[in-house]
Amino acid sequence: MNVLVTGGAGYIGSHTCVELLQAGHRVIIADNLSNASADVPERIAVIAGAAPVFYQVDVRDKDALREIFRAYAIDSVIHFAGFKAVGESCREPLKYYRNNIDSTLTLLEVMGEFGCKTIVFSSSATVYGPNNPVPYREDMPANVATNPYGWTKLMIEQILRDQASADPEFRAVLLRYFNPIGAHPTGLLGDDPNGIPNNLMPYVARVAAGILPKLTVFGGDYDTPDGTCLRDYLHVVDLAKGHLAAIDYAASHPGAEAINLGTGSGVSVLELVHAFTRATGREVPYVIGPRRDGDLPMVWADAGKAKALLGWTAEKTLEEMCRDSWSFASKAGNR
Ligand code: NAD
Ligand code: UD1
Repeated sequence: MNVLVTGGAGYIGSHTCVELLQAGHRVIIADNLSNASADVPERIAVIAGAAPVFYQVDVRDKDALREIFRAYAIDSVIHFAGFKAVGESCREPLKYYRNNIDSTLTLLEVMGEFGCKTIVFSSSATVYGPNNPVPYREDMPANVATNPYGWTKLMIEQILRDQASADPEFRAVLLRYFNPIGAHPTGLLGDDPNGIPNNLMPYVARVAAGILPKLTVFGGDYDTPDGTCLRDYLHVVDLAKGHLAAIDYAASHPGAEAINLGTGSGVSVLELVHAFTRATGREVPYVIGPRRDGDLPMVWADAGKAKALLGWTAEKTLEEMCRDSWSFASKAGNR
């Protein structure tokens, strides 16, 4: 298949391109490099043994997208492009609504012009909001977000459902990711946020590397076994494989289907820190600090629907997630 991957130079997109290429698909990346390095397509090619086609374009640029659809008969689209920092979305909401919504609308319009009707979208567990009990199931209400980033995910899910209602041939899979961590085992691709990381694993890796002095654990007094929050961490390579299963499923299933991608179990902040030290031999000094606003005590997936519909389950262990994160973060050339 010819697969257009928007945001394909980013963290999850790049790992997905590797899996797509290794499975024999032709991959066309559209990425404006607003949050990725220019050498990522080359790194993808080194790992996969086949090169993606790369267009440095903004997905909001309709003419640029049309050029891609004219050059390649696109069978399906995986739509990763968007901004993803929760805190920044609260400070600059318009930037998030403009980029995330506009890019999706432009993409769908151009797909319509060229008769492309299959899309896999990067949604998030954040759509379950603060009111559902764990484990989160796809049939639970997902209609309240707690920040503008989360609202863009809810709005885009709705746009895709509306499009599926309007066109009986339209096929969308809305993948709700839990907490992707880890990196490619080659150490060539991974998550390398600019500035001080907000997310736990990149922060832990920088403490382990001695770049940051210590981790602050956000809250030690939650009603959880060790007092710290529980999350459903999954390896980014497992997540990437879920997209392959999703494009196959989408190709023959009209409608808009939401599917969780998670392991189905919760791991605490302290369990992750200890697993990191076991897997890498690196100490991670930490202090218990106050809770972070907006954090939920417990988040994990019911992973049954992904298994039933996609035949997908997460396979890699927490140790592998930690080891691969470290092998990427500790390579000087990646920074
Ligand atoms: P990322 O920032 O690494 O990748 C996004 C890519 O999109 C970047 O390469 C960026 O340059 C590109 N991009 C952004 N706006 C663009 C535009 N208008 N035109 C073209 N390219 C554009 O993020 P990621 O972690 O790989 O996440 C990918 C998707 O998955 C995002 O939609 C994100 O919201 C979603 N998601 C991520 C997580 C996570 O924990 N990383 C969790 C849930 C959902
Ligand atoms: C966050 C976002 C979520 C987004 C996801 C991926 C919030 C409230 N949620 O999820 O919408 O989809 O990132 O981008 O921002 N922690 C520490 N110390 C740190 C960093 C994190 O203790 O320095 C803890 C957090 O309290 C949390 C866990 O580690 O319990 C994971 O945090 P993080 O990686 O930021 O992910 P989420 O908060 O689950």
